[in-house]
Amino acid sequence: MALPRVLSVIGAGQMGIGIALVASLRAKIPTVLLYDRDPSQITKGLEFMDKLLAKDVSKGKTNEDDAKAARGRIISITSSSASSSTSNNDEFGWARELGERGSDMAVEAASERLSIKEGIFRTLAKNLSRDAVLASNTSSISITKLAGAAVEGLGSTISKASEEGKSCAGRVVGVHFFNPVPVMKLCEVIPGLQTSEVTLERAKAFAVACGKEVSTSKDVPGFVSNALLMPFLNEAIMCLESGTATRDDIDKTLRLGMGHPMGPLQLGDIFIGLDTCLAIQETLYEGTRDSKYRPSVLLGRMVDAGWLGKKSGKGFYEY
Ligand code: 3HC
Repeated sequence: MALPRVLSVIGAGQMGIGIALVASLRAKIPTVLLYDRDPSQITKGLEFMDKLLAKDVSKGKTNEDDAKAARGRIISITSSSASSSTSNNDEFGWARELGERGSDMAVEAASERLSIKEGIFRTLAKNLSRDAVLASNTSSISITKLAGAAVEGLGSTISKASEEGKSCAGRVVGVHFFNPVPVMKLCEVIPGLQTSEVTLERAKAFAVACGKEVSTSKDVPGFVSNALLMPFLNEAIMCLESGTATRDDIDKTLRLGMGHPMGPLQLGDIFIGLDTCLAIQETLYEGTRDSKYRPSVLLGRMVDAGWLGKKSGKGFYEY
């Protein structure tokens, strides 16, 4: 199955940077376009990528030429750098640039908010070629819903039931990577109700080329991974909230008693972020209306306080 020649990654946070890195270094995608609406996020992300590549070289995992070539294949796209034909107040210039550069696959890795992702899918569908794969790295949001947004991006004259609408929705798929992307071995692939077989196979081939094993999940809230992981983390926070055990004892129990690489509170803090934990848990709760998914009150309060984990300097732990 053909791999993309020009991959667009939307969002230069930890996940987007990790995906861009494995796509360039492992899958050797010839061009990886990296877009974020905040240029400082791209600068920060690429500095982190340089550190990861330098570490791989120093450990002999990658040679210097390969690392340099991988880095050279990544091109930053910012709203202000977007093509010369773009006027200053054209908020979609970046997406047109991705299209003009021939992007044949996009992976969206923006914040875990439905409205943000829907906006991106509308814009991508409008600006990328009509056979580009439109993938989301969402942790929990419905791929079927994002496919609906993509069809809306084609304009009000195209209905979801039309051939053009079905073909557009057929190109949308979930490719759910795990943080840290270069290290975690899995990519969960999620077809929406309308995803075509070809799109599914292209998504799987991409994940495998990035060095990942693939698991497939139906499009249910949280998919398999977060339908299992997030209630576990939420329960750990409820244990803390109810005083069942201290923070350290909760994490120690799972680390030493069950052999987890890190405790659930540490995991939420360091590799997921408490705002994302809350967003996923809310998607599970709202998507099923099942009270067993009720988000912990403490989790909500911590997000209200801006205590989001390592990225904000404080979560369950101080950083
Ligand atoms: N980015 C890239 N690489 C990283 C990293 C990071 N943020 N953190 C650690 N690593 C690398 C290290 O450089 C090291 O690489 P090396 O073998 O080449 O030297 C390797 O990971 C192992 O690191 P360490 O020896 O320092 O530390 P550990 O042995 O403690 O392992 C870990 C680190 C692999 C991250 C381990 O703690 C772990 O598996 N933690 C659980 C992570 C996890 O569950 N992630 C999934 C979160 S859920 C998710 O992402 C989905 C979303 O939808 C919620």
